[in-house]
Amino acid sequence: MRTFSFAGGETGEWRIERIAAVTGESLPAAPRLRILQGPDAAGTAAWCLRGITSNERYVNRGEKGALVAVQPALGRPEARHAALIPIRKSSAWWALPQDERRAIFEEQSSHIATGLEYLPAVARRLHHCRDLATDEPFDFLTWFEYAPQDVTAFEKLVARLRSSPEWSFVDREVDVRLIRT
Ligand code: HEM
Repeated sequence: MRTFSFAGGETGEWRIERIAAVTGESLPAAPRLRILQGPDAAGTAAWCLRGITSNERYVNRGEKGALVAVQPALGRPEARHAALIPIRKSSAWWALPQDERRAIFEEQSSHIATGLEYLPAVARRLHHCRDLATDEPFDFLTWFEYAPQDVTAFEKLVARLRSSPEWSFVDREVDVRLIRT
């Protein structure tokens, strides 16, 4: 099952430290986050976001090799901090052909090259929402796990990506930070 549900509510392994709107509307406050593998959030969540893992769209052979060589798995015991960053891109982005999106993503914004500098400190999983049959409020649910000593580095990474040309196409972004309990 490649579908994951992120439910903000009263229960879950992750304590929500803060929810900040970066661009556009925020998400309702909630004390905890529960991640379920599958489409349904149990019970009375304040909000539930769903996405699906998928094939890669942009990485080339060399980048793939570089990523696979250093990227850590999720669930490392020391990686007690996490970020859930749901992102929507504009219709202008989605109207572009694949080659132009790739050029903005990497040749102009160095998304992968920048990200690689923060590996293996940061583990990640990308979920696509547009591949679901239902209308979803975001296009991507990005999930990251890192250790307490890498909090500052993670902030730097996020700031670098947000100042890149790729982010001029982001029309909604919420930043949810969590700690594993
Ligand atoms: C930890 C270091 C990071 C690495 C190594 C990394 C790497 C990647 C790669 C390889 C892809 C493309 C996958 C594909 O080919 O389809 C991707 C996509 C994406 N990443 Fe990152 N990333 C990192 C951090 C981040 C952060 C911090 C954010 C959010 C603030 C982010 C947001 C996204 C989004 C939204 C996409 C989807 C873009 C699209 O398909 O239009 N990434 N990332």
